[in-house]
Amino acid sequence: MRAALRIPKLAVYVAGLVPAAWTFYLGLQDQLGPEPIKTLEQELGLWSLRFLLLCLLISPLRRVAGVDLFRYRRALGLLAFYYAALHLSAYVALDHGFDWPAIGRDILKRPYVTIGMAAFVILVPLAATSNNAAIRRLGATAWARLHKLVYVAAILAAAHFLLIVKSWPAEPLLYAAATAALLAVRAFPSVLRHARRAAESVIPGRPQA
Ligand code: HEM
Repeated sequence: MRAALRIPKLAVYVAGLVPAAWTFYLGLQDQLGPEPIKTLEQELGLWSLRFLLLCLLISPLRRVAGVDLFRYRRALGLLAFYYAALHLSAYVALDHGFDWPAIGRDILKRPYVTIGMAAFVILVPLAATSNNAAIRRLGATAWARLHKLVYVAAILAAAHFLLIVKSWPAEPLLYAAATAALLAVRAFPSVLRHARRAAESVIPGRPQA
């Protein structure tokens, strides 16, 4: 038997936007530290990556633990896109003051910016087709194939984070490891089967999902 959460989807969108509202609020209160623009940009980027990974977590969570959050997948994906768009907007408006030639140079010259941009470009068609009309128009098979690009976006986003830092602090490595693990369970379904068996031995009698 599967456990399905019944929180209204709207509540997920509202809760998901709280970190952005809170960060903007702290910014307005001049409480984002000595480099407020950088902190704002970093927070928005981090939340985009978090929502992207939450999206990838939904399917293994259902298969291993029987927790069904499928109905929130679209909301989490769109939140990842909204945060990426805010992150990009902060970069364009606050970091570079709409200096388009400098932005163009930055995207071409700094590999981590190029990779971040590539991740964002991939998220655009995914967000644009995250509605029932698009699924009907494209057909379920083509839609599902297109949305597999979320894996590429996650790899690029994790690489973007890894490449920003010059040393090797724990945080980007942890996000990269989480991304790799979430992709590995898809690439190697046997990993999921082992995990499910382990979960069943921890919770004896839990019916199979
Ligand atoms: C899916 C798209 C993206 C994701 C998930 C993402 C995620 C992140 C993350 C996690 C960080 C590091 C935050 C930290 O240091 O704590 C970051 C930093 C950064 N990102 Fe992105 N990013 C994305 C797209 C972009 C794009 C499109 C650009 C610009 C074209 C960009 C420019 C930057 C810059 C400049 C920083 C460094 C900020 C700083 O430390 O000065 N990112 N991003």
